[in-house]
Amino acid sequence: MAAFYSFVLCFILVIVIPTSAGLSPESFYTAECPRALSTIKSVVKKAINREPRMGASLLRMHFHDCFVNGCDGSVLLDDTANFTGEKTAFPNLNSLRGFEVVDEIKDAVNKACPDRNIVSCADILAVAARDSVAILGGTSFSYNVSLGRKDAKTASRDDANTNLPPPVFNFSQLLSNFQSHGLDLKDLVALSAGHSIGLARCITFRGRIYNDTDIDPTFASSLQKGCPLSGGDNNTAPLDATPKLLDNVYFKSLLESKGLFHSDQELFKNITGSESDNLVKHYSTNPSDFAKDFRASMIKMSNMKPLTGDEGEIRLNCRKVN
Ligand code: HEM
Ligand SMILES: *[C@@H]1O[C@H](CO)[C@@H](O)[C@H](O)[C@H]1NC(C)=O
Ligand SMILES: *[C@@H]1O[C@H](CO)[C@@H](O)[C@H](O)[C@H]1NC(C)=O
Ligand SMILES: *[C@@H]1O[C@H](CO)[C@@H](O)[C@H](O)[C@H]1NC(C)=O
Ligand SMILES: *[C@@H]1O[C@H](CO)[C@@H](O)[C@H](O)[C@H]1NC(C)=O
Ligand SMILES: *[C@@H]1O[C@H](CO)[C@@H](O)[C@H](O)[C@H]1NC(C)=O
Ligand SMILES: *[C@@H]1O[C@H](CO)[C@@H](O)[C@H](O)[C@H]1NC(C)=O
Repeated sequence: MAAFYSFVLCFILVIVIPTSAGLSPESFYTAECPRALSTIKSVVKKAINREPRMGASLLRMHFHDCFVNGCDGSVLLDDTANFTGEKTAFPNLNSLRGFEVVDEIKDAVNKACPDRNIVSCADILAVAARDSVAILGGTSFSYNVSLGRKDAKTASRDDANTNLPPPVFNFSQLLSNFQSHGLDLKDLVALSAGHSIGLARCITFRGRIYNDTDIDPTFASSLQKGCPLSGGDNNTAPLDATPKLLDNVYFKSLLESKGLFHSDQELFKNITGSESDNLVKHYSTNPSDFAKDFRASMIKMSNMKPLTGDEGEIRLNCRKVN
């Protein structure tokens, strides 16, 4: 009998504990705002049609939100008298893009929902990143996103400076940074392929193309033309050879010592037995395993430390606390 009850208890625990940190399935807004997700997708599509890079920018925005105190929309808050937010932190200043598109999505969603303010800004970032990934990567990169994140009422520039990895990090620094966010080596390698899309400023890769030795010399000198030793800090270069497509070209480039950032090339050093090297090699020849692992790691990142239930709020304007 005792065994029976503990069996029942286990069963109840298993079905009651939410699988993703208190979040709900993708159907979360269906009752209160049935057009929420289609509205987000259509604004994202329009924005990417205007400028393909915007898909990359929206993916990065979600990453920078989640890595600073969880996926809570904190990255979107403008500075106030009470706090200095994340927008002016080193990794974000003159770098993070897409804030206007997020405003456009929020306006459209507020209009599409009968009771106006239903969809959180944190959820908008998660869905916009998911849609961008599917648009630039195709159906093999489509995944279901969990929903129900609430928005933070504060933000911290210091936390953004501390928690976001810089492109000069070596492998062990990258891995400990990801581990501090509950992510593992496979997540690090898979998610770094976010660098399969988008552009980077000269100032972020100058050190690598002039000083690193683990770089293809032809690749380095061709980048040096657009990124001189002094001046041109804002000149951009593509993160891989196909910056409008989410694909495994990123990993093929690492095998050729053509990673744009020092941190990218740290994932492949051609050392026998290195787990990271082995993953890079595997993804470079097996696009469907890459897509599968990328989807799984995106879901993990999207579910990092959300505010749920009574925590936080649903902001009316993503830039300000209500
Ligand atoms: C592993 C550690 C990472 C480092 C050190 C890093 C660093 C950077 C840097 C320095 C830039 C260029 C910023 C600029 O030009 O101002 C960049 C761009 C970008 N990153 Fe990362 N990143 C990392 C991980 C990720 C992850 C996990 C994702 C998403 C899954 C991601 C997605 C992107 C995208 C899409 C861009 C291009 C954005 C655009 O074109 O607007 N990065 N990253
Ligand atoms: C700052 O915080 C106080 C107390 O919480 C609040 O009354 C005030 O509106 C806040 N100011 C801004 C600009 O958010
Ligand atoms: C780079 O662009 C930013 C705006 O994004 C601007 O404030 C800064 O002055 C520019 N820097 C250079 C060196 O042109
Ligand atoms: C995504 O959710 C839909 C229902 O909303 C379901 O039919 C589909 O199987 C799910 N896909 C995956 C990959 O979980
Ligand atoms: C990585 O960087 C840290 C901090 O600079 C340093 O202590 C460590 O030795 C480096 N690791 C390797 C393998 O170079
Ligand atoms: C290359 O390294 C030297 C020595 O550390 C440093 O002084 C120089 O600023 C670096 N150059 C670039 C472009 O980062
Ligand atoms: C790795 O190094 C070996 C020699 O140790 C070399 O034969 C091989 O081509 C290298 N592979 C890559 C992808 O650079």
